[in-house]
Amino acid sequence: MLPLLAATSVLVGLARGQAAGSEEPEQHPALSWQTCTGTGGASCTDQAGEVVLDANWRWLHVKGGYTNCYTGNAWNETACPDNAACAENCEIEGADYEGTYGITTSGSELSLRYTTTDDYGTSIGSRVYLMDSPTTYAQFNLLDNEFTFDVDVSQIGCGLNGALYFVNMPVEGQGEAGAEYGLGYCDSQCPRDLKFIDGLANAEGWVPNETDENVGVGNRGACCAEMDIWEANSISTALTPHSCDTVTFTECEGESCGGTYSEDRYGGTCDPNGCDFNAYRLGVRDFYGDGKTVDTTQPMTVVTQFLTEGGTLSEIKRYYVQNGAVIELPEPAVEGITGNSITQPWCDNVNQVFAEEVYPFNDHGGMQSMSDAMAAGMTLVMSLWSDNYANMLWLDSTYPVDADPEAPGVARGECPTDSGVPADLVEQFPDATVKFSNIKFGPIGSTFDLPAAQKKARELKEQKAKAKA
Ligand SMILES: *[C@@H]1O[C@H](CO)[C@@H](O)[C@H](O)[C@H]1NC(C)=O
Ligand SMILES: *[C@@H]1O[C@H](CO)[C@@H](O)[C@H](O)[C@H]1NC(C)=O
Repeated sequence: MLPLLAATSVLVGLARGQAAGSEEPEQHPALSWQTCTGTGGASCTDQAGEVVLDANWRWLHVKGGYTNCYTGNAWNETACPDNAACAENCEIEGADYEGTYGITTSGSELSLRYTTTDDYGTSIGSRVYLMDSPTTYAQFNLLDNEFTFDVDVSQIGCGLNGALYFVNMPVEGQGEAGAEYGLGYCDSQCPRDLKFIDGLANAEGWVPNETDENVGVGNRGACCAEMDIWEANSISTALTPHSCDTVTFTECEGESCGGTYSEDRYGGTCDPNGCDFNAYRLGVRDFYGDGKTVDTTQPMTVVTQFLTEGGTLSEIKRYYVQNGAVIELPEPAVEGITGNSITQPWCDNVNQVFAEEVYPFNDHGGMQSMSDAMAAGMTLVMSLWSDNYANMLWLDSTYPVDADPEAPGVARGECPTDSGVPADLVEQFPDATVKFSNIKFGPIGSTFDLPAAQKKARELKEQKAKAKA
């Protein structure tokens, strides 16, 4: 494996791989966020962050020229006869965040648009990482802490996923261009659609999808643990830890990667399914959505707490705040499941009641693995994506589509089983946009005023009762 080298290193003669180009300057959009101390959100300090677009979305061309190294879903075989030569021959470009990718920031708000069309074509979705310097991903240890943000999902419907999550990416990224160019992604699907992994291309054995011009799968995959704080649209949302045998970046090969991109989904070293809390899937169908308890037509604050026992992650807890009032997660309405937070016994229970044939979350370390991942430091990811493999039905519809929707765990949301086809979404909802803002991080109780939000919730309840009487 190649060593990690920063763009500024001057080691002559070493095949470093994956350099930055000079056609388009790379200027990360600024995104301010806050760290908090004390209690009640009263002592929060602004942090000058910035976001970087993942490398996979970027223009990749032959060094010093304009010839594409990768077009559509295929590599140029002359420039990329093998992984090492490809990394040497090709360079990765700076991004026009707004013009090419529909990514904008303003103060503490990040906006991601589903499709953006410029002179060169249409870009679909995007994935960005929070940085604390131009060359390093900001690192978060979530243990004993609370992560809070506001989100507007009102403009993303069935099949879209405006996601906010953490993965164990290397702090400085990978390859010569490194984090500055959004290199080094990994997650619990051990993605094999990455063009570069650990400083080398993924061109050898790459299979462009015959029917989908935006899909290609390589022989190499990038695994690491993943904490999905928020996978959501205006119909459904899920909170999901995913474990891994090794929590930090680990390369995998071919079918042994498992996950979405492999025939044998469970053949890898990470948990592709996770232990998810999706209220609808847990039988509470009036909790989240248009006009429901958490009303997705309006912005909301999402608070997630990571509680420990004896230094290890023991519980993942969620609060929503909308119009100043707190909303707790509901008790599940499926017989045999109790508890409105994620713990190891809760996951064990759900796995049994849903009669899952597999339990990869546990097989790859469960909550202990997630705890180790947090202690190792994680990178914040925000993305807007559509799902070329399962049309996002696992989030917002009946899945598997041929299963009995009345069986526990099958219905996940109100979307029809024929929704979420990416080609349809591109045509029907090109301007769909998700907005994340007001990111806050600090010890439990530091990012928001729970007592005040509880008081407001009581007042609203009383008002409603009076109106009825
Ligand atoms: C592939 O790259 C080579 C240079 O390495 C270039 O001459 C050729 O035109 C490229 N082919 C395509 C189809 O872009
Ligand atoms: C190509 O994509 C379609 C859906 O977009 C999928 O069903 C099929 O399995 C993919 N083929 C390969 C070889 O990945």
